[in-house]
Amino acid sequence: MKMPEERARTAYSSNFGTEHKPMKRILTGIQSNGNPHLGNILGAIMPAIQMSNAPNVESFLFIADLHALTSLKNKNVIEENTNSVAAAWLAFGLDVKRSVFYRQSRVPMVTELAWFLNCFAPFPMLANAHSFKDKSERLADVNAGLFTYPMLMAADILLYQANEVPVGKDQVQHLEMTRDVAGALNRYAETELFVLPQTKVSEEVMIVPGTDGQKMSKSYGNIINIFLSEKELDKVVKTIVTDSTPIEEPKDPDRCNVYALYKLVASPEQASEMAAQYRAGGYGYGHAKRALFEVLWQRFDEPRKAYRYWMENPAELNRALEMGEEKAAAVASETLNRVRQHLGYGRR
Ligand code: ADP
Ligand code: TRP
Repeated sequence: MKMPEERARTAYSSNFGTEHKPMKRILTGIQSNGNPHLGNILGAIMPAIQMSNAPNVESFLFIADLHALTSLKNKNVIEENTNSVAAAWLAFGLDVKRSVFYRQSRVPMVTELAWFLNCFAPFPMLANAHSFKDKSERLADVNAGLFTYPMLMAADILLYQANEVPVGKDQVQHLEMTRDVAGALNRYAETELFVLPQTKVSEEVMIVPGTDGQKMSKSYGNIINIFLSEKELDKVVKTIVTDSTPIEEPKDPDRCNVYALYKLVASPEQASEMAAQYRAGGYGYGHAKRALFEVLWQRFDEPRKAYRYWMENPAELNRALEMGEEKAAAVASETLNRVRQHLGYGRR
């Protein structure tokens, strides 16, 4: 059997090595705390896949299934969410040969590194994290995993020596903690154990509205799950909240939630056609909802089929992930061994 270090070299021999131009390593994690919705797909999955196809980029994309346990305690739901998040990424064309795509929990080096980082994380820094502070009025409900959440996230990033981490604004503080704790260990070890990752916050992030007009989010119960059956999807689209302007009257498309969603998924021509119909009058919200349903159904026809395929073939889904997990483990062992050595535990 090959040793992890040897695997690390061979797994990347086509991309890495001194004779090649170094690749920029981008890494991001996706928490598996629910089924992916239209907001996740347009706002995170599709842009990340596009980014991972850029030249000189090597991407590590993973399902943060251990983080999910800080808030979710149901083994069937945990498993189901992990699979559905993975299936959604694959359904939108994530190339598992190009990207390293894996489940956080299948590369156990991450929890060992998290322990080392925890031992360098000052209590006040962790106590200041939003992920903990938001829940700290009810301390009895806070588990130690939630308290140390930022150090598991730091381990996710530092283990793979990521150069850039694209995240939403809510994760910026966690990235600052990652850099702080990485700096602390680098100073302690008097060597560059870890690359200090750059935070990439996308400025013009699109905000997909939910069925009630607020930001679409699992926590608001306003999601559109594009992987539903035809009937179920139609039913959800019909629940989109509109005002009560009668059919005959002209309407302002820019104040309508159905149009806002339509604009995000239809072609520009289709969108301007619908806007003109709104303004002309004689076009009701029922018509607009029907058009929205049609475009959702058509545009996501292929990903929907692919999603179902992956969900119905969990063994194959597992194999696709295991491929990434093997590559990830090779890189992870390399980093962890250096850390162990510098902290006085020796290589394993
Ligand atoms: P949720 O709010 O449903 O819990 P998450 O916080 O898990 O979603 O978000 C996962 C990813 O999807 C993040 O990168 C986030 O920016 C993106 N995302 C979530 N909701 C939306 C939305 N309504 N519009 C655009 N992007 C979104
Ligand atoms: N905490 C992130 C979120 O809730 C998910 C996550 C876990 C992550 N580990 C990460 C994101 C590492 C980027 C890098 O969205």
